[in-house]
Amino acid sequence: MSKTISGFSKLSKSDKIDWIVDTYFPNNRNAKGVLMQYWNTDVKLQQLHDEFIENTISNYYLPLGVAPNFLINGKTYTIPMAIEESSVVAAASKAAKFWLDRGGFTAEVISTKKIGQVHFKFNGNQQHLSSYFAFIKPRLIEEAKHITANMEKRGGGILDIELRDKTEAIKDYYQLHVSFETLDAMGANFINSCLEQFAKTFKSGALDFDGFAEDERHIDVVMSILSNYVPDCIVRAEVSCPVEQLSENNGVSGDAFASKFVEAVKIAEIEPYRAVTHNKGIMNGIDAVVLATGNDFRAVEAGVHAYASRNGSYSSLSHAEVKDGIFTFWMEIPLALGTVGGLTGLHPLVKLALELLDKPSAKELMQIVAVAGLAQNFAALRSLTTTGIQQGHMKMHLINILNQFGATDSEKQNLVEHFKTETVTHNAVVQALKNLRN
Ligand code: MEV
Repeated sequence: MSKTISGFSKLSKSDKIDWIVDTYFPNNRNAKGVLMQYWNTDVKLQQLHDEFIENTISNYYLPLGVAPNFLINGKTYTIPMAIEESSVVAAASKAAKFWLDRGGFTAEVISTKKIGQVHFKFNGNQQHLSSYFAFIKPRLIEEAKHITANMEKRGGGILDIELRDKTEAIKDYYQLHVSFETLDAMGANFINSCLEQFAKTFKSGALDFDGFAEDERHIDVVMSILSNYVPDCIVRAEVSCPVEQLSENNGVSGDAFASKFVEAVKIAEIEPYRAVTHNKGIMNGIDAVVLATGNDFRAVEAGVHAYASRNGSYSSLSHAEVKDGIFTFWMEIPLALGTVGGLTGLHPLVKLALELLDKPSAKELMQIVAVAGLAQNFAALRSLTTTGIQQGHMKMHLINILNQFGATDSEKQNLVEHFKTETVTHNAVVQALKNLRN
């Protein structure tokens, strides 16, 4: 049977599933049921989700959890997090509680500029191109007014358009490098629509510009697209306290804790193998909130990792120091987020998540997300430099292992109790379950 098909997107949802089941699961009568058990019984709600993308066949659940007790700039938050990894929400909550008792987090938006580019080829005199750009620039802005008017009314819009010469890297290659302020919108659609309009105006205006020779009038637009690299859309998150306040009941002094912690961060600053994992831990917190609030985590990921390599080598996003007896742990990261547009007004859980956060502006959301990342990083480093990561991680993973072996509720209760004092490993759990069943 052929495993390819044309016109798939035009089939009904049920016919799509039938084709998939017939083609890929001929011996699994259960496959259709597995897909359908995730359909929502509320037909309208299901249709809303079906229409987010093409070829929807079911819903893919991730848990939505919350991490309470976050004190950020003096305001308390319960932060929604959508994530599958067992220990992330627990770690965030623990870090939130730890810092709640030590003054909480501070966060500050440093800049909010976003970038888009029209990439084009021009085979002619560079002076002529510069004169053309000076001539056409006001018209670029004018002819995009139908797109920018509303954004401008609210205080945003196009900040600047520059002509950039890239011919040293690629023959005849230039850019219109455009900066935008998109306020509470992430702005991808706004920016891309503006750029496509600039490209049109820029191309057509060249046809009758007097300063061009006849053979210079052809501008070849390669593409027009926003950049997910946003090094001028930066938020800073920070915690700090006197070193002695870091001591806990586990016998580790504040001094010892702080110096090992700072050492661990330094390693991530100079060692890319460690930096990637260190930053992955930060992204555990960031992605979970970005996803719960209906934002584009792929854009955030791409931008953050590019930023982590901005000095030519991949490095830690966070930093720590002890100075004059004060421990400070901070991070500056690029985050292009929105609290209007996209999924934010559509997905019922996203709407609820934003309400839980007291309907933040994009700037406030940048602060919350950065804090979630810093908290996650703090929790990971705290475990890594004291007990090791597996203790907390495997405790949270215990239920997953038990579920994998079909443990009943009472077996789970029994074994969670048992592992309060035992080390959780996959084998130990399997053995304990076996013993219990015997
Ligand atoms: C696991 O998801 C994240 C950590 O590996 C982060 C880190 O090592 O810093 C624990």
